[in-house]
Amino acid sequence: MIVTEFDREDPSMKVQLADMLALTWPQTYGANATTEVDHLMSSERLAIAAIDNDELVGFVGAIPQYGNTGWEIHPLVVRDSHRKQRIGARLMTFIEDEIETRGGITVYLGTDDEKSQTSLSHLDLFEDPLTAISKIENLDHHPYEFYEKQGYKIVGVIPDANGWNKPDILMAKRILQPPYDLNKKQPTTD
Ligand SMILES: CC(C)(COP(=O)(O)OP(=O)(O)OC[C@H]1O[C@@H](n2cnc3c(N)ncnc32)[C@H](O)[C@@H]1OP(=O)(O)O)[C@@H](O)C(=O)NCCC(=O)NCCS
Repeated sequence: MIVTEFDREDPSMKVQLADMLALTWPQTYGANATTEVDHLMSSERLAIAAIDNDELVGFVGAIPQYGNTGWEIHPLVVRDSHRKQRIGARLMTFIEDEIETRGGITVYLGTDDEKSQTSLSHLDLFEDPLTAISKIENLDHHPYEFYEKQGYKIVGVIPDANGWNKPDILMAKRILQPPYDLNKKQPTTD
């Protein structure tokens, strides 16, 4: 199994990616996976593939959202048959290295809880979102714990983003150490 840059000129890989998106998120991409693949191939984005015997078994993309410093992971997916083999972790390490070479210092993502997989989907998050985050429990294999294992922290939540009691959990990771102590408010020079 290799992790490498996605070959944007390979039609077979793009078809496999569309199939993977449609299978993993049928409600979101069932009808328009090919269009989404076209978006994922945009030249300013990063597109990374995990390939096993010429078969696409995983994909991660990233979008520069704040100039080159802040990048959003979108999407991350590993083929069902190949999960729990550290492919997701390898894809994240690879793309973080690529982001760093392009000037990235923070990587972030939103991971939805649409199926009551965490304690956050059982609360009115507008009442006290920060306490709810500090007491989060994983009730049914929500991937936020996968991201925690890759060094990401929960930095926020968007209540009801996907409907009532269906929040989006915001996570971020520092991929480059700061040049000075950020707690000492040094003036910026640029
Ligand atoms: C989430 C996903 C990408 C993980 O990929 P993976 O290749 O199975 O993950 P890895 O094998 O690299 O796992 C690394 C670690 O995270 C843990 N982990 C993986 N998925 C997890 C989950 N859903 N909940 C809790 N822990 C998880 C693994 O047990 C492993 O732990 P370890 O280091 O203690 O052994 C994969 O399950 C997937 O594609 N899911 C469907 C799509 C999805 O949810 N994408 C993310 C949306 S934001």
